[in-house]
Amino acid sequence: VEVDWSLEASEKGGYPHYMLKEIYEQPWVLENTLGGRLREEEAGVELGLRLDPAAFDKVHIVACGTAYYAGWVGKYLLEALARIPVEVDVASEYRYRNPVVDGKTLAIAISQSGETIDTLEAVRQAKRGGASTLGVINAKGSSITRETDDTLYIHAGPEIGVASTKAYTAMLGAMALIAVWMGRARGTLSQAEARSFLAELRKLPRLVERALEMRPAVAHVAEKYHQAVDYLFLGRHIQAPTAYEGALKLKEISYIHAEAYPAGEMKHGPIALIDERLPVVVLATESPLYEKTVSNIQEVRARGGRVIAVATEGDQEIRKFAQDVLYVPKTSPLLAPVVSAVPLQLLAYETAVLLGRDVDQPRNLAKSVTVE
Ligand code: AGP
Repeated sequence: VEVDWSLEASEKGGYPHYMLKEIYEQPWVLENTLGGRLREEEAGVELGLRLDPAAFDKVHIVACGTAYYAGWVGKYLLEALARIPVEVDVASEYRYRNPVVDGKTLAIAISQSGETIDTLEAVRQAKRGGASTLGVINAKGSSITRETDDTLYIHAGPEIGVASTKAYTAMLGAMALIAVWMGRARGTLSQAEARSFLAELRKLPRLVERALEMRPAVAHVAEKYHQAVDYLFLGRHIQAPTAYEGALKLKEISYIHAEAYPAGEMKHGPIALIDERLPVVVLATESPLYEKTVSNIQEVRARGGRVIAVATEGDQEIRKFAQDVLYVPKTSPLLAPVVSAVPLQLLAYETAVLLGRDVDQPRNLAKSVTVE
């Protein structure tokens, strides 16, 4: 699918901010990322890559910020579908450690701009060790694409808002494709399993469209808590990175302090923070760890915390435990991060607008960090 990169296409198109426009573009962006690449009849994907997906025995993922959280989700996807050991690092750490890399390592660099200097240097570090490199990139012909062995474009179109939104969900889509690509080649994903996962991927754009319909409920929550000084975000397993991404979005554009934790870590320290002034966003979508997440919610409630749950449509039970519930459509637990990102992006957006912040150009931040 051809993406229109013209200036006109990057205008706000009737939206008050680029960020909101980009949030609303996510259904068609995901269509671009996924649509032409799913091959249900062959129970696989067509990525047009030169790399051999069966040639590796480990994966190193490097990225910064939001792209790093996409990489963290990618780790769960690759482990689940391709049964390959995966390490994920923030690129600024990876480039200065001494990673154990060899010719059977695939290093995946994720970047919207393709210009992030730390990510580029992490690619160079992996190459020095003999790794093959794959870029998961939005910007065509960018620096990282010129240095990696291969590139999987996410096809999100130009992203202008400093806070990354549509590039994030497109990166998640791309990581799911890579997991299927490797899983099929490695024989860890059966035809039947692949077909049912591809069917879920095929539905994603429509599900994200439905998630966007929840905006009034999100606006209500933003209104209720926009004066909060701190926010806590909790999630487990593949939704732990979602919690971190939600906290990052809120910090970046509202300047409210937000922390994220894997929910199971609560009792090891952060639970001391909980009181009636602390809104706690809990990712409680359908998953094998749902019951454990509900216990975490109860722990928060028992200490007076205010719980905003992100839950799967149809889950009435959760209303007993959370003051506010933001529903997202049901999908495979492995794809829940995609639909769940939407209410968290909207929460950050609505909060920042209520506080009168400069949504598209938050203070101290640049769209791409090209110097160290
Ligand atoms: C996201 O909202 C941030 N502004 C930032 O963390 C960003 O994701 C990071 O700088 C990486 O950028 P890249 O994807 O262009 O490499």
